[in-house]
Amino acid sequence: MGRVEEVRVEGLANGGDALGTLRSGKVVFIPRGVPGDLLRVRLTREKKRWARGEILEVVEASEHRREARCEAFRRGCGGCDFWHFDYERELAWKSEAAREAMERISGVEFPAPRVVGASPVEGSRSRSTFHQRRRDQVVQVGFFEAGSHRVVGVDACPMAAEEINRGLSEVREGLALLGKAEIRVETAGGGQVVMVVDAPGGRIGAARAAVERAVARSETVKGVVVRGSGESFRVGELGVEAGEVLAAPPVEGARMEPGGFRQAHRGLNGRLVAMVRDAVGERWDRSRVVEGFCGAGNFSFALAPVVSELVGLEGAREAVEVARRLAEDGGAEHLHFEVADLFEAGAIESYLRGGEVVVLDPPRAGAVEVCRSVAASDVVGVVYVSCDPGCLGRDLRELKEGFIVESVTFVDMFPRTSHVETVVVLSRR
Ligand SMILES: C[S@@+](CC[C@H](N)C(=O)[O-])C[C@H]1O[C@@H](n2cnc3c(N)ncnc32)[C@H](O)[C@@H]1O
Repeated sequence: MGRVEEVRVEGLANGGDALGTLRSGKVVFIPRGVPGDLLRVRLTREKKRWARGEILEVVEASEHRREARCEAFRRGCGGCDFWHFDYERELAWKSEAAREAMERISGVEFPAPRVVGASPVEGSRSRSTFHQRRRDQVVQVGFFEAGSHRVVGVDACPMAAEEINRGLSEVREGLALLGKAEIRVETAGGGQVVMVVDAPGGRIGAARAAVERAVARSETVKGVVVRGSGESFRVGELGVEAGEVLAAPPVEGARMEPGGFRQAHRGLNGRLVAMVRDAVGERWDRSRVVEGFCGAGNFSFALAPVVSELVGLEGAREAVEVARRLAEDGGAEHLHFEVADLFEAGAIESYLRGGEVVVLDPPRAGAVEVCRSVAASDVVGVVYVSCDPGCLGRDLRELKEGFIVESVTFVDMFPRTSHVETVVVLSRR
């Protein structure tokens, strides 16, 4: 059992925990604390320079503390980090924490950031991944408790699009026979959803008839693919309207398979993509663009009117194939897509000819190798979209000698969580 201390919460750290100082002077991170709270905290972990604690009692509640409206959050659901203060506070505190982390890690002082909030906040997620577990003969579907693999069951997630909750409730019983599973639900267009279910330990053959019956009865679930260890089956129709995934699909009526990367916030993807397109169009109109981590072309097709040529590089072969097919069908002959592992040192170099603009949207791990290559090239501008302020800060260390940070914008693609998307525009010194 750890020591117990009273701690006044001073702020919010990047990552969402509340921050305070112990009597020893050590920093303490406290999940679900609110700036201004006085908390009685038990230390669950103690290191030389920092500690973690859990709240035993809110001795004095901050004026910003609110009763969480999400019932699953009150039961410990770790799908979200923030329901215990208002959204306006969340937006201000988490963007400030992200700015502080980025500046500290990169050693660059930024111009005042712009902050774009989520609207709507609730019902906005276009994809959600639920976990299913059986315990004492009861099947729970929900999200992990923070820091554990215990599933907190949810009837309907308030952050998910309405059809995600409706679809899940319509086929829940059919999926229950699969036992331990990960259920990814994606909007497919027209108020319907598709699902990709991974049940590696399950006897999926035995559950097939139940899944088929559930999908046949459901008005919301178009199709489901179930993947076990070594076997898989598909039920129904799995096409996702391209407009659900891509901000500017080049052809009408195109369909895609589920399961690939897609931005999580329904309303904000268009804003994010327009921001990237305008950053390129207003500064470097008609330039050659090399886009790293392009997925199926979410930014690429929107950039088409403002570039002379675009080469999209992406690690997932299926995404590249989709992007190529759409470019061909849409007559976008100046867009090219290649499979490349951009975590490999020098991987981008053969695509850089000189004088181009680089657009990046890497996964959480960042793009340090790409940034090293870009720093050593004569690329004129970089638009870097990141979902991890810490990694972005690290990568900006590579670029800061050669580039000026022109603008920083936080876009809240993940309301109620500690995550925030950041768009940084850099131009050559
Ligand atoms: C944050 S997503 C961005 C995708 C796209 N920009 C979009 O908006 O849909 C990151 C992308 O990086 C790709 N990726 C992950 N690791 C990679 C690697 N080592 N090399 C190249 N691409 C990678 C993923 O497949 C994913 O499509």
